[in-house]
Amino acid sequence: MSDILTKLTYQSIQQGKNYFSLAHNTLTSQLRKLVHPTLLPVSQGIPQELILKLQNRLNQLLETDWQDAEIGIYPHSLLFDHPWEDFFRYYPLIWLDLPLIWERSTRNRLQEFSPEIDQEGYPSYYVQNFHHQTNGYLSDLSANLYDLQVEILFGGSADAMRRRILAPLKRGLAKFPSLPQKQIRILDIACGTGRTLKMIRAVLPQASLFGTDLSPAYLRKANELLSQNPVELPQLLQANAEELPYLDDYFHAVTSVFLFHELPASVRQTVIEQCFRVTKPGGTFIICDSIQLSDSPEMELIINNFPKTFHEPYYKNYTADDLVERLEKAGFEHIKTQIYFLSKYFIAHKPA
Ligand SMILES: C[S@@+](CC[C@H](N)C(=O)[O-])C[C@H]1O[C@@H](n2cnc3c(N)ncnc32)[C@H](O)[C@@H]1O
Repeated sequence: MSDILTKLTYQSIQQGKNYFSLAHNTLTSQLRKLVHPTLLPVSQGIPQELILKLQNRLNQLLETDWQDAEIGIYPHSLLFDHPWEDFFRYYPLIWLDLPLIWERSTRNRLQEFSPEIDQEGYPSYYVQNFHHQTNGYLSDLSANLYDLQVEILFGGSADAMRRRILAPLKRGLAKFPSLPQKQIRILDIACGTGRTLKMIRAVLPQASLFGTDLSPAYLRKANELLSQNPVELPQLLQANAEELPYLDDYFHAVTSVFLFHELPASVRQTVIEQCFRVTKPGGTFIICDSIQLSDSPEMELIINNFPKTFHEPYYKNYTADDLVERLEKAGFEHIKTQIYFLSKYFIAHKPA
């Protein structure tokens, strides 16, 4: 009985987040029309039939999310780990930031940073207002708003999509059966605000976790989130995923969530090669990123709308990129792909 109640609660909260995101998006686009009445809509309207398909995909994702908790891949508590405090603190700031975002997007100002933001030392492809975010990835405000913005973008399902890496991660680690959990090393590249590391920690309380990202502000936010848990802290390091500062063959698993669509094509290859280098023979590399045109042709309109609404300079190229070929070129084998809602997963293995 309590199980049914827990499932109903999970479904209701997810549905609530979905309705909230819909309401937010409708309100903001109405307001945008009021503020900029002469502007044409940036994206094409979505027909009812496609909305139903999206809803079906979302329901399947949530069912898998529930089932994976039921079979013990992760504790049920992860399903209810919502950043409510951040929501109440920062949601109003999303509205306050909107006029700046609209201004930048209408004037096509895509690399605009406040004078106090230090842009030195970052690769030029990175110094962008991704998603039209104020100061791109380089400010504390951006780091504070990011998780809420992603939740709204995905109708409240961003964490459910991130959690889909946990089952293949556990399966991959089962290839080192005699290894005590304390000796397992896992790296999350481009860890952002640390949500994926928090999930991995819930599944592997004793493993050594590592996270890298280029953004000091996002790493500060990750540190804040991960310090709330009174267990061993993941080691966070500011590093370019193109030059991972780790020894060869060091990690039993490497993960990457929502990074590859933000990289130019040649950088994608370099990052995959770095991940191959630092993964142990027999280890697993898991990528979670956007669906692509080849596997989801029925989602073409959604895929095409995304970079029009949000500044995503490398997304179009990503949606047609053959990442399996790239992974094989780097040396990975037995590559499997999976699709959940709007995300695609590449599960690759370094030969033992
Ligand atoms: C869309 S966010 C994803 C963050 C996080 N993984 C998540 O699940 O939300 C992309 C992240 O990639 C980081 N990033 C982009 N290019 C990078 C690079 N070359 N090396 C390291 N981090 C990078 C950004 O700073 C940002 O935190």
